[in-house]
Amino acid sequence: METIQACVNQRLLTKADRLFTGTLNGRIIELLQNARRAGATKVAITNEGGWVTVKDNGQGIGDFAKLLDLGGSGWNEACEESEDPAGVGIFCLAPREVTVRSRGKMATITKDGWTIAQTEVLKDPQSVRKGTVLRFQDEPWETSRVDINAVFSGMQVIVDGKRCPNMPFVSEEAIHHPELGCKIEVREYDQLNQWQKSCGGDHWSGNKGIVNFHGQIVTFDYRPVGERGLHYLVDLTGEPTHIRLMLPARTCLVENEAYKQLLEAIELSAYRFIERKGEHTLPYKEFLRAGELGIILPEATPTFTAGLLSNTESPEPVEVAMPKDFPLSKCYRFAPNTSGKEEDEVNAHLLAALGTFNEPFVPVDIISFYDGYSWASLPTIGKVEVKAGKQLQSKYLWSGKLTCVEELSITVETSDGKIFSSTVCMAKEPQTPKEGPGWADEHILVTAQANDRLQPSEIWYHLGGWYEDGDTYDTQLSAFEEDLNSFWADLIGPDEQLRQNIIAPLNRIGFEWKATHVYPDGRVWIEHTDGTEKTIQPPAAMATAA
Ligand SMILES: Nc1ncnc2c1ncn2[C@@H]1O[C@H](COP(=O)(O)OP(=O)(O)OP(=O)(O)O)[C@@H](O)[C@H]1O
Ligand SMILES: [Mg+2]
Repeated sequence: METIQACVNQRLLTKADRLFTGTLNGRIIELLQNARRAGATKVAITNEGGWVTVKDNGQGIGDFAKLLDLGGSGWNEACEESEDPAGVGIFCLAPREVTVRSRGKMATITKDGWTIAQTEVLKDPQSVRKGTVLRFQDEPWETSRVDINAVFSGMQVIVDGKRCPNMPFVSEEAIHHPELGCKIEVREYDQLNQWQKSCGGDHWSGNKGIVNFHGQIVTFDYRPVGERGLHYLVDLTGEPTHIRLMLPARTCLVENEAYKQLLEAIELSAYRFIERKGEHTLPYKEFLRAGELGIILPEATPTFTAGLLSNTESPEPVEVAMPKDFPLSKCYRFAPNTSGKEEDEVNAHLLAALGTFNEPFVPVDIISFYDGYSWASLPTIGKVEVKAGKQLQSKYLWSGKLTCVEELSITVETSDGKIFSSTVCMAKEPQTPKEGPGWADEHILVTAQANDRLQPSEIWYHLGGWYEDGDTYDTQLSAFEEDLNSFWADLIGPDEQLRQNIIAPLNRIGFEWKATHVYPDGRVWIEHTDGTEKTIQPPAAMATAA
């Protein structure tokens, strides 16, 4: 019977210098890791004329052959179980020439020594008494590059005489999970220290797992709960574990069974963290999930915005203000399914923003994932009706149509049997099914009061607003304002425009005036209420011209 069996071909050795990506960071990680595995408490790194020396105070190298044994390791059983060494790390130095000294012996591995050539192990004339020394050519191992790999390694690392930071990765509060060989602690972004932030906590709103694999940090995205900015610190303790880093670069976790268990443990920690905090804004689904895990959380803090139209866009719609201390339970939600008409939402918002009432009408927007909490169950808005008086003028403006009417009102019926009704200065014309092809999308109704009551941008919002791929916001807004001004000017007619233009500057006269005459030669005569009068002559040049 023919059989086949896996084996390692010698040819792999000839490619050993390509097992690693060749980054300086990778080399720092591998050599610090070896020192730590050798039980070192101190590592001294020195840079001198393009040469780097890494000296540790670990147990030293018993068998030099292990150095070049690709896939073989010389660490003890405990290290095998907790870290699963792969026996490839030192090959990150290939094809550099490296001199290794330890326990009275030394060897210089040349370029070919990494692949096919024999390397002699000699008696070391300088005899290193404790630990291991490696020397090779490299770009400088500056403190700024070493710090991040040293800070959580548990060793004191010194670069050119200067100590790197050294601190525990998690606090006393971390929960020990012996079955996974790690401790887990949940922190908000602000509670991360500078090093944790720089190696993984990328943003205050991000959610990340940050794993300290004995000094080497790897991160993964994980969001078991919707709360923003939670970071899950996982500190490997050195106990046996099946949490593994992917080879050879070891920059991410292997998604095996232990990884799944780790995620489950993190999920539980996340809910416990929220339980301790005492308040949250989790979706209802996650509130239920906490219950399944045996954690009874309070309901989410009521989260809503007053009004129904998004006020995060530019331009912003007219604002709906929530009266001070007004209870949420007296507000209304918009149930889109009841009417199916998109303009109902707009008109309910405009009624709340522009109407006047004895009893406040406050519609609120609550994201649907809060459905299920008692506070999210509110009476809803039902029928919405717009009544418009006689049309005065209608024009296409921006990407819609603007019509001025004599009177305008909106009426809303709510599920708790109330009726809210008021005159308003703006509403959206309910869509009639057949307005013909090419008809402007939006049809906005206003009364003449809208000119004083509303900002142009609040009308612009309903007529298409800002186009992202057009001019700047300000340029587009002033173009719209110009169109809108001429809309109002046309509405009042040329005589009224003239009258307004003449009257406006007279309001700047110092004291009360009674009458004024304007003459074709530019003279202005003013009679004040106190009986005094004044004639203002145009400048000489202008008078001649006139
Ligand atoms: N600083 C050191 N002190 C003592 N022994 C060392 C040191 N560096 C390397 N060794 C020995 O050389 C062997 C090979 O090291 P190498 O980094 O290639 O592999 P490894 O550490 O076993 O596995 P990994 O691929 O996970 O790094 C080690 O198993 C260890 O026996
Ligand atoms: Mg190693």
